[in-house]
Order: sequence, then structure tokens, then C-alpha cells
Amino acid sequence: MAAPMTFEVGGKQYVSVLCGHGGMFLNFLGTAAWYYINEDRILTFAIDGIPETPTPPRRKPPVARAEPSMARNGSSELVEAGRSLFITHCARCHTLDTPAISSDLTRSAAIYSIETLDAVLLRGALSSAGMGKFDEVLTERDLHSIQAYLVNETWDAYQKERVIPTMTHEN
Ligand code: HEC
Repeated sequence: MAAPMTFEVGGKQYVSVLCGHGGMFLNFLGTAAWYYINEDRILTFAIDGIPETPTPPRRKPPVARAEPSMARNGSSELVEAGRSLFITHCARCHTLDTPAISSDLTRSAAIYSIETLDAVLLRGALSSAGMGKFDEVLTERDLHSIQAYLVNETWDAYQKERVIPTMTHEN
């Protein structure tokens, strides 16, 4: 939640607050922000405003995963290098296997192609959708580390789901 602000229109005072995702994974696991889509929402309060705040839509339970279309690849060093790059540059927007403000990359077909990762990460193919380019901080080799890490995480998520098939974001 952002800092609230107040304003006056026609002699009436309003207080507005921008809602958000609900924090990092551990802060919002099991809270209302886990179950409801609170992103991109502004709440405005006024004396004599509507008595009930409309409930935002619930997150849908995740669909069952298909087997990842690429085998785990890369040495453990490469995977660890990818993990470190991911935490530094990506995790603030993309969490893996949990709701986030941006897509769950363990469910993205884009991670299987180095050409696609190159287009998105180094050449800004999705910049109009809010995915900036990282050509000043990532190299071609880093793309292979990030891919090895993401494919590894995708297999972990897939295999975990086989063990706990009922895992869902619903009550
Ligand atoms: C400032 C937020 C932000 C950061 C940081 C960020 N991304 Fe993104 N990313 C987005 C948005 C927004 C999109 C486009 C919409 C979507 O897929 O959620 C996107 C899309 C993508 C896609 C395409 C997904 C698909 O299936 O189409 C990939 C791959 C991706 N990002 C990888 C990364 C990697 C790897 C990093 C770190 C190097 C990263 N992103 C950092 C916001 C971000």
C-alpha cells in the first residue's frame, strides 16, 4: 500500500490510497493479498462515502502444469549464477510459482528459447508492455545462466505439483 493522500473537490474531502501487490512472498503468503487481486487498485474514502468497499476479484487457482519442454541443463554453477542474476534483476517483478505483479516465468514458454530471451532481455521486445531491457547489465552468457536457473525452477515446480497435486491459491 502506498502513502495515502488527501484532496478536496467541491468542498468535500477525500482520502485516496494506491493499493498494491501485498509485499514479497513471505509477507503476503496466506493474507488477503494472496487470495485477491489487489494490484492496480485505488481506494478513495470520504465521509458519507459508500458503506461497503467492493471486494476485488479472487485469484484463480493455477492450472495444472505440463511437463517442461526442455530438460534441466547447465552445471550447478551455471544454475547458481542464474539464481543470483534473477534475484538481483528480476525477482522484484517476477516471483516464481506464486502470484506476482508480472508473469510467473516457470509458466512461460519464452524461457526455452535463447533467441526469445535475447529479444526480450537484451533488445527490449516487450518494453511497451513494461519489460525493460537489461543490455547494460546482462551479457549473452548471462542469458544461458538465467535460462538454466528458470528451467531448473520450472522442473522443481512441476515435480512438486506431482507430489502435492491439490496445491491451489484458493481456500
Ligand atoms: C520492472 C518489472 C520487471 C523486471 C525487473 C523484469 N521484468 Fe520481465 N516482464 C515484466 C513485464 C511487465 C512483462 C510483460 C508482461 C508479463 O509477461 O507479465 C515481462 C515479461 C517477461 C518475459 C516474457 C514472458 C512471456 O511469457 O511472454 C520474460 C521471459 C521476462 N520478463 C524475463 C525477465 C527476466 C529474466 C528478468 C530479469 C533479468 C526480468 N524479466 C525483469 C516486468 C519485469
